[in-house]
Amino acid sequence: MAADTSHPAAGDSACARACAQLAQTPQRWLVTGVAGFIGSHLLEILLRLGQEVRGLDNFMTGHRHNLEQVRASVGEAAWRRFTFIEGDIRDPQACAAACGAGPSRAGAAATGGAAGGAAHAGVDYVLHQAALGSVARSLEDPLLCHAVNVSGFLSMLAAARDAGVRRFVYAASSATYGDHPALPKVEQHIGAPLSPYALSKYVNELYAQIYARCYATETVGLRYFNVFGPRQDPLGAYAAVIPRWIAAMLDGRAVQIHGDGATSRDFCYVQNAVQANILAATCADPAAVNQVYNVAVNARTSLTQLHATMQRMLLAACPRHRPLAPDYGDFRAGDVRHSQADIAKASRLLGYAPTHDLAQGLRQTIAWYVAQAPAPA
Ligand SMILES: NC(=O)c1ccc[n+]([C@@H]2O[C@H](COP(=O)([O-])OP(=O)(O)OC[C@H]3O[C@@H](n4cnc5c(N)ncnc54)[C@H](O)[C@@H]3O)[C@@H](O)[C@H]2O)c1
Repeated sequence: MAADTSHPAAGDSACARACAQLAQTPQRWLVTGVAGFIGSHLLEILLRLGQEVRGLDNFMTGHRHNLEQVRASVGEAAWRRFTFIEGDIRDPQACAAACGAGPSRAGAAATGGAAGGAAHAGVDYVLHQAALGSVARSLEDPLLCHAVNVSGFLSMLAAARDAGVRRFVYAASSATYGDHPALPKVEQHIGAPLSPYALSKYVNELYAQIYARCYATETVGLRYFNVFGPRQDPLGAYAAVIPRWIAAMLDGRAVQIHGDGATSRDFCYVQNAVQANILAATCADPAAVNQVYNVAVNARTSLTQLHATMQRMLLAACPRHRPLAPDYGDFRAGDVRHSQADIAKASRLLGYAPTHDLAQGLRQTIAWYVAQAPAPA
């Protein structure tokens, strides 16, 4: 089953207009973290819109099968407009090669992307997604978190500036709100960071500000709140809650809830994040640039509510599913208790209007994971 990609370009929204404009005048894009969850969705829509796309990834948490799924979904003609570079954002040369002009495949390990030797101009836009997610992982290895999320970020930003890219859009995080108690979260009011991950994402914003101030680099930071959807990795100790729970439910295991279940989040379907990236890259209003924006829905769902909704939807999608009560365990260190985005700034300056609420996104997501699951013996 193909991932649901129709919505950001559909209808008569600011994003639909931006997509129509892009389709008429294709641009060159670099997506870092392209083999990951959000990066692969960005790749997919850009190829559908007729864009030239480079992707940079070292497969630290991303997967070749995500790229293969995009390939199958967009078709070979569109896939030929994609060039994959296997490289690490901690390597300034890899960042420069990914952003800049030159023979596009030099030193690149193409995984089914276009092959050939034509010289490429530098990219117009960078959508920087590559980072190590997970608060828990950052608490276990703060040095690695810093190396990838801070030094790697700076390498990419410096390379983008050197290559003269038009705009650098980057994945920031709601973790930056830290211990600030206000709900919903408004961009200018942040608290103290609660983890190395949160700090790393805040440092990204500070570097982006400095590059705007000192070098006139155009940047936009997107503070994603709990993004979910097809292709999000369900496996491993650092998996996000929705894919982890779907995998457990499909396996007939009880899910683990950290804490009392009242912890709440503003869950954001991936197509809303895709929309925000397109708007952030293409928005012509100077007031909208060199800003950070919340990217979510402005709704709040507790883990207990999420669990009940998922059980119900999974049962509808997959009648053999046997609902189980969740296991409640300890709270996790570094986790924010409640999270909900005020999205007025993104709406006003970017024209952002989420196309999917939690239920719409969950339906798409569950259908996708059910379709991926092996048939019962
Ligand atoms: N998913 C969410 O809910 C969420 C929330 C807030 C912020 N974010 C941010 O959004 C971005 C994308 O997240 P995601 O959920 O798609 O995660 P993901 O792990 O699926 O994707 C990250 C990608 O970056 C790649 N990568 C990691 N280190 C790299 C390195 N050193 N060099 C090159 N590539 C590297 C990984 O291999 C992976 O493909 C990240 O910056 C993350 O911090 C995500």
